[in-house]
Amino acid sequence: MADRETWATRLGFILASVGSAVGLGNIWRFPFQTAENGGAAFLAVYLAAVVIIGLPALLAEFVIGRRANINAITAFDRLDKPNWKAVGALGVLAGFWTMSYYSVVGGWVIRYVFGSATGAYFGDPGPADYFGMIASGLDAVFLHFVFMAVTVGIVALGVEDGIEKATKLMVPSIVVLMVGLAAYAATLPGGGEGYAFFLTPDLGTIVANFETVVPAAVGQALFSLSLGFSVMITYASYLGKDENLGTDGVSIAAFNTFVGVLAGFVVFPLLFAQGVEVGDAGAGAVFVSVASAFVDLPFGRVLGVVFFGVVLIAALSSAISLLEVVVSYVVDNYRFSRPATAVGLGAVLFVGGIPSAMYDGWLGWFDTVAVNLLLPLAALGVVFFVGWVMAGDAVDEIRQGTGGAETLSVVWLWSLRTVVLVAVAGTLVLSLQGLSAPPL
Ligand code: PFF
Repeated sequence: MADRETWATRLGFILASVGSAVGLGNIWRFPFQTAENGGAAFLAVYLAAVVIIGLPALLAEFVIGRRANINAITAFDRLDKPNWKAVGALGVLAGFWTMSYYSVVGGWVIRYVFGSATGAYFGDPGPADYFGMIASGLDAVFLHFVFMAVTVGIVALGVEDGIEKATKLMVPSIVVLMVGLAAYAATLPGGGEGYAFFLTPDLGTIVANFETVVPAAVGQALFSLSLGFSVMITYASYLGKDENLGTDGVSIAAFNTFVGVLAGFVVFPLLFAQGVEVGDAGAGAVFVSVASAFVDLPFGRVLGVVFFGVVLIAALSSAISLLEVVVSYVVDNYRFSRPATAVGLGAVLFVGGIPSAMYDGWLGWFDTVAVNLLLPLAALGVVFFVGWVMAGDAVDEIRQGTGGAETLSVVWLWSLRTVVLVAVAGTLVLSLQGLSAPPL
């Protein structure tokens, strides 16, 4: 078995989890999902989903991880429930799948760091055309390779110190920059409609599009909290018993949501101010809108480098957690060395991501399969397992380090058994309808 480390500090665990949670999902995926699913209606359902489903499910993953103290698959042996290993395995598979296209988007971000430095999108082509030019093709494959290689390098070295230091820097800098950008966006003429779109929920839209908005919002809540990928199981396996899982979970979920919403405060006023049709913005929404802002701003190139640099760090700290889950399982169980495992898996992931880098239809398809199928299925397994199989042990575990919390822990268990279970199952059923055949 690999060494079982524990987090040096409570903050170390929270920041690493935040580092995993806060990533492209908040800054890239959240705004365009919001745009495609009716704006504020989506936001309202998303916020409810974070509280009602995301937080209890996050705590469920924490409980498995801390109780078992081992990687997400072997954990089920340790808990004497070997038949449930498939749940952990599904999570690992989901992480593997997601990492392949996540890295392609990471490659876009690298491109924008350099594009900002050289001013590539500042003249002709402008920001809107630039995105179309760089999103797919051989260049995108190359930058996907670079992003994957950096992720592999960090995981191969196993530099917890590096990750921890990077996240300590990254978290405050993301907030400062995003707040700054949001303040700038607020000064733009025409941006007001963006706030209306983002912040005025229309019940009619939710009801009329229930079958698409709800699964999209729940899927986004899970994705954004890194749930259903066994990441939080793995991270919690390094935790001590004196840690208060409840308060940590609340901090992580709150912070993660805050960054997503902040991204909306940047992107929507900018998109509306530039007259970009939000529905058309798609996967390029954040790249096009933010890049356009830099074109107009004094010191735009510097700001562009800094902003996309921060997004890059956020993306990397999430990608690391995705890869780490798979690597730790292989290293624990098959006795390959960590570097060899990281490189081998990275190579497979690189190849797996090539279709997404060559054609944007494939990227969308990979994302849809991850979020509409793998994620809710794995989350359903976790919720059912903790609620009905671990049951009393789960309550016991969550109480450790809380100084009691008798009532809350029972409320949590029953919410998992009922509301959360039904909601995730319902989401799975609804979101299966959103699945499509691969764009062959
Ligand atoms: N939560 C990350 C984000 O929002 O970008 C994405 C992610 C990272 C998902 C790690 C899953 C995961 F295991």
